[in-house]
Amino acid sequence: MPNVDPIQRALNRAAIAACAVLLQRGCPMKRPTEAQTRRQLNDTITGRRRWTLIEGDCLDWGRAVPDSSVDAVITDPPYGVSYCGKENKRPPIANDKHPFVWWLYDAYRATRPGGALLCFCPWRLQQTFHAAIEAAGYKVRSQVIWDRASFGMGDTSSMFAPAHDVVWFATKGRFKFPGKRPKSIIQAANVPATKRVHSTQKPLPLMTELVEAVTPGNGVVFDPCAGSGSTGDAAVRVGRRFIGIELDAHNAATARQRMHIAAKKRGRQ
Ligand SMILES: C[S@@+](CC[C@H](N)C(=O)[O-])C[C@H]1O[C@@H](n2cnc3c(N)ncnc32)[C@H](O)[C@@H]1O
Repeated sequence: MPNVDPIQRALNRAAIAACAVLLQRGCPMKRPTEAQTRRQLNDTITGRRRWTLIEGDCLDWGRAVPDSSVDAVITDPPYGVSYCGKENKRPPIANDKHPFVWWLYDAYRATRPGGALLCFCPWRLQQTFHAAIEAAGYKVRSQVIWDRASFGMGDTSSMFAPAHDVVWFATKGRFKFPGKRPKSIIQAANVPATKRVHSTQKPLPLMTELVEAVTPGNGVVFDPCAGSGSTGDAAVRVGRRFIGIELDAHNAATARQRMHIAAKKRGRQ
């Protein structure tokens, strides 16, 4: 053994231990292995971790989420409208050519009895999403309207100025709101285009209201199409656990970073 100063040896040991903790907890720089991801997923469900963000396809990874393990699925899937972002600088959203509904089957299986689904969808495709949600097994209970407080463009001479988004609320079996009965219209300003980290990023106050409306404290929220992680950011900030899946590597990294910050703000993990 080389003659190393005992202080240096102690420092080396501390650095190695710190790296091990970072790796185990999902250091933002490093993509976890499949085995680590499965362990993180399990640890989130059993309460040893606050969140897990998986970079991958929800049609594959959705199967890894155990039966009846989450309190709510809250998601904003690709709408089927080939959205590119206003400025057209961002790449098109994956799986956005047709309504993307196939994740619903694993979402339903993973939802606990008495749990809920909140699913964003465009008004043009609301019947399609309604039918798919019920075909997966959920019962559609009502609709939530997100009032964006400002309007988009559309056809300016023959269309009402679009200022809202639709969110389907559905449940698996008998559901009871954990707090007071929420209203079906939520007003929240859209994230300004210059501040967006994702072309369809949802505002944090909106996501916080949705998470708190349908999940108990410390409940588990699952978002199979996590995007930049707005659902998870809100969930972790208000003390819920979170499982997210995102296909795009850039978005997944953004979401992971947001989770780290949210958990830090919450004071754990
Ligand atoms: C409408 S965006 C979600 C935006 C999110 N609500 C936010 O605030 O950032 C839908 C996301 O689903 C992702 N996606 C598309 N197909 C997917 C798949 N098969 N598995 C997981 N994510 C997918 C897209 O990359 C996109 O980021």
